[in-house]
Amino acid sequence: MDKLIIEGGKPLKGEVKISGSKNAALPIMAATLLTDEPCVIRNVPRLRDTMTMGKLLISLGKDVDFNNNTAVIKPKGKLGHVAEYEIVATMRGSFCVLGPLLSKLRKAKVSLPGGCVIGIRPVDLHLKGLSALGAKIDIANGFVNARVRQLKGNNIYLGGVSGSSVLATANVMMAATLAKGVTIIESAACEPEIADLAKFLVAMGAKIKGIGSPHLKITGVAKLKGTNYRIIPDRIESGTYMIMAAATRSTITLRQGSFNHLIALVDKLSEVGTKVYQEKGLIKIQPKKIIKPVSMTTHPYPGFPTDLQAQFMALMTLANGVSLIIDKVYPDRFIHISELNRMGAHIRREGLSAIVEGVRNLYGAPVMASDLRASAALIIAGLAAKGRTEIHRIYHLERGYENLDEKLCALGASVWREKTS
Ligand code: EPZ
Repeated sequence: MDKLIIEGGKPLKGEVKISGSKNAALPIMAATLLTDEPCVIRNVPRLRDTMTMGKLLISLGKDVDFNNNTAVIKPKGKLGHVAEYEIVATMRGSFCVLGPLLSKLRKAKVSLPGGCVIGIRPVDLHLKGLSALGAKIDIANGFVNARVRQLKGNNIYLGGVSGSSVLATANVMMAATLAKGVTIIESAACEPEIADLAKFLVAMGAKIKGIGSPHLKITGVAKLKGTNYRIIPDRIESGTYMIMAAATRSTITLRQGSFNHLIALVDKLSEVGTKVYQEKGLIKIQPKKIIKPVSMTTHPYPGFPTDLQAQFMALMTLANGVSLIIDKVYPDRFIHISELNRMGAHIRREGLSAIVEGVRNLYGAPVMASDLRASAALIIAGLAAKGRTEIHRIYHLERGYENLDEKLCALGASVWREKTS
């Protein structure tokens, strides 16, 4: 196992190229199950998670060939309908093969994804939506078993206790593309990754209206064809580097980054004192020395993304005052608090809130990565801290940040890997 060593306290400089979106790539790769024709998907980030999805598709009978950031996915033999525990348990995003498998094969057996450190991660909305399309669903021995003679369009309300659900919207929308008749999804997720999936499905011949809105209308078709598609930039990676620049008081530039999908973050960063703007197709970040304390609450898109909450908290640990952070999407997504406090931050939980009292400096320390975005927060803290930070279990980072070490070194950071004993 490797650990990442960071000698912090240095400003960054230069330009970083943003990779394709992990959370668009995963459902789009799953959507290839809906066709017997080859699909070419470009700008796919080479990550543990996209490789895991590739392995899952191969286990289901697809041929998956990665050539740099292009994935060619085509049929190899008879499609299987069982998504094994071993793979689904390593990545909950695998659960979004349920809708396409059910729609294409009229049956599917997918392991129930476990919870994770950010929350219990229920799937009730996925099952509600697929049942509304006529599927018979039972849960046994940790698997969801779904079967149907023919999916039929229906009107479905997919709002849950925390608002819309990204992957439930993906599962139901994909299933509806081959259902008989029209499906209306109310309170659909509006995340850009879902809009990207919808555009991919339309490129395959699906009929979808209301893309990017909470009201989706899907008119079922008999068949979907292969297509050639380029995935959007990763807005969470883009936002992570924007916050990193603010925390290290560095002026950096993002190439092929996401700006219009990050308005909530850009707005918050302007309150913090960090200017983020577009110039000649690039995104420039210009922070100030003083980091102003700014409270923040996460919401489903277009609200402040929960996947940037930990990173923003790392920034607020260095603010010249107190800020309050609430995560309305995953109320317990605060595992990063203890590790940040080990680096000298002053954060405490009070009910649903995290109260962050800014400090002048953070100090390097050995810390443990735990989940993808909490680990990104530790990277930001380590780069801003005085001294050396050692981040253990960095496989969490490799799930969602392509070529992270290289990108950080290209920005002038003192970062390297060492083997853990
Ligand atoms: C997607 O997960 C993302 N993952 C997550 O990113 C992201 O944090 C999340 O959306 C929210 O934006 C991928 O796209 C692969 P949800 P998803 O269903 O779809 C509740 C990362 O770091 N809910 O939108 O699983 C749920 O408990 C990952 O890249 C139900 O109540 O999340 C949560 O409170 C982490 N019932 C809220 O909805 C359900 O059936 C949002 O969850 C499903 C969800």
